[in-house]
Amino acid sequence: MVEFDRSRVAVVDHPLVQHKLGILRDKRTGTKQFRDLVRELAHFECYEATRDLPLEDVEIETPISATTAKRIAGRKLAVVPILRAGLGMVDGVLDLVPAARVGHLGMYRDEVTHEPHEYYAKLPRDIAERTCLVVDPMLATGGSAEAALQYLRAHGATDIRFLCIVAAPEGLARVLEADDEVRVYTCSIDEGLNEAAYIVPGLGDAGDRIFGTL
Ligand code: URA
Repeated sequence: MVEFDRSRVAVVDHPLVQHKLGILRDKRTGTKQFRDLVRELAHFECYEATRDLPLEDVEIETPISATTAKRIAGRKLAVVPILRAGLGMVDGVLDLVPAARVGHLGMYRDEVTHEPHEYYAKLPRDIAERTCLVVDPMLATGGSAEAALQYLRAHGATDIRFLCIVAAPEGLARVLEADDEVRVYTCSIDEGLNEAAYIVPGLGDAGDRIFGTL
């Protein structure tokens, strides 16, 4: 297997995640259920990826007494889907962090070279001050992810976490080598890539399955 820095990869392997991932992988799973599962898995990933957010005390009154409660302090969040499949994870993140801003990065993969090309980018103006959760269900060759991270760094982002559902070792190695600070959250590290750069066993084309364009 291709080697990569495991200290910067978190595998979100809760039993509920593994159960849902099994259904997601199944080729008999239809568009509606697939879309719902991607959103649900994004909840778990967002939960893990935001575990270290700082808290501050806030004084409140319950119906019974005054007390000190907690609220999120400090940096605000941005969720940045890599188009198109990343869109499937956005609502899952927003369900947990409704105030997050949403940036979009459009990358397409050249069918022959498998290299990424940027065709659209729109980020929140204050992206440099935000914790960025970059979302894309499949980390395959890592080409699009690497390009997305480079784009975000060039626009001042410092705190970037990459959330995917299935990762190939090749993609992990490429991303972690290209960016020495990003942390990756995935529900599974699969065996590798086939000759068409699909993840094995993977789940097929995530974008087509989310949007029903098979
Ligand atoms: N993109 C996908 O949607 N699936 C793969 O297996 C690889 C890249």
